[in-house]
Amino acid sequence: MAMEIPRKMKAIQYSTYGGPDVLHCEEVPVPVAGENEVLVRVHAVGINPGDWQIRSGLAGDRFKLPYIPGWDVSGVAASVGAGVTNFSPGDAVYGMTVNSGGCAEYVVVPARYLALKPDSVDFVEAAALPQSAFTAWHALFVQGKLETGQTVLINGAAGGVGHFAVQLARWKEARVIGTASARNESYLLDLGATAFVDYTASLPTEIERSADIVLDTVGGEKVDWLLDILKPGGRLVPITWGRYSSVKAAKASVTVQEVQYPAISTAYLDELTHLVNGGQLNVTIDSVFPLEDTAKAHEKSESRRARGKIVIRVL
Ligand SMILES: NC(=O)c1ccc[n+]([C@@H]2O[C@H](COP(=O)([O-])OP(=O)(O)OC[C@H]3O[C@@H](n4cnc5c(N)ncnc54)[C@H](OP(=O)(O)O)[C@@H]3O)[C@@H](O)[C@H]2O)c1
Repeated sequence: MAMEIPRKMKAIQYSTYGGPDVLHCEEVPVPVAGENEVLVRVHAVGINPGDWQIRSGLAGDRFKLPYIPGWDVSGVAASVGAGVTNFSPGDAVYGMTVNSGGCAEYVVVPARYLALKPDSVDFVEAAALPQSAFTAWHALFVQGKLETGQTVLINGAAGGVGHFAVQLARWKEARVIGTASARNESYLLDLGATAFVDYTASLPTEIERSADIVLDTVGGEKVDWLLDILKPGGRLVPITWGRYSSVKAAKASVTVQEVQYPAISTAYLDELTHLVNGGQLNVTIDSVFPLEDTAKAHEKSESRRARGKIVIRVL
């Protein structure tokens, strides 16, 4: 299906690092799909903490300015570059860009980072999935090697990554302890968590030395207590920086893994599609913003209070 592609498009971009006010809606050229790439007419963009971490300069200054944020996209293939055989113009797709650029009407994505959109969800839900659900999958099953019948504690279980991790671990028939503040207790138990821990209250002693794996999505300076939750031989899998005492870890005979940033692929996205279409993996949408309000979406994410995912609707 041929699609008319304009030469200019609306995009949110910034030319200096800083607060949400550096984000501006501007007119920029529509990119062109190169070899093995797909030009996607963007319908929705999922927000990730990485978006504002880069924008604020927290992730360093190696990102070339001006910069268009947004990694997770869903939309329709507008054109395909040479060598692309698995997508055609008109296909509804979702996936992840290589270096942001999603907060725009069009974005170029390598075909190997795209898949056909799950039929059972709309574009907003599809855009919420790639980075968070894949990160949860990789942390639990590739790094954590979680097996049926094991126990996993998910720190930050109500967030973008955490709420997918709860469902994936339950799909694996693992026991799930989810941490969040009290307002998320019934949400997490409804999502499938076997037990709930309010991180603002004192720790229930029965969870000490009870978990085979801890997935930490929170990190920071005050996460040493997570080492007390692991059984000897257990694995702590962090997806963000945290200060864990190596002395304490050695004493408890547990290991703390390195933070990894694995690359997504069509094969992983197809696995997610299968679970979404089968009803085993559902998306919680915290809030949806129009493209022009990307700054508000960043502010919401930066508050660290999102339940599930924040998404920008472009079309
Ligand atoms: N390594 C990777 O490939 C990768 C990929 C994606 C994300 N990340 C990183 O992973 C981290 C989490 O990402 P995300 O998208 O899941 O974040 P998020 O959606 O912003 O997380 C928000 C959630 O965190 C919870 N929370 C805040 N403080 C908490 C605490 N002290 N204990 C337990 N829960 C707490 C909140 O629950 P309450 O409101 O109940 O407090 C809220 O539901 C970010 O730093 C991100 O940069 C890494």
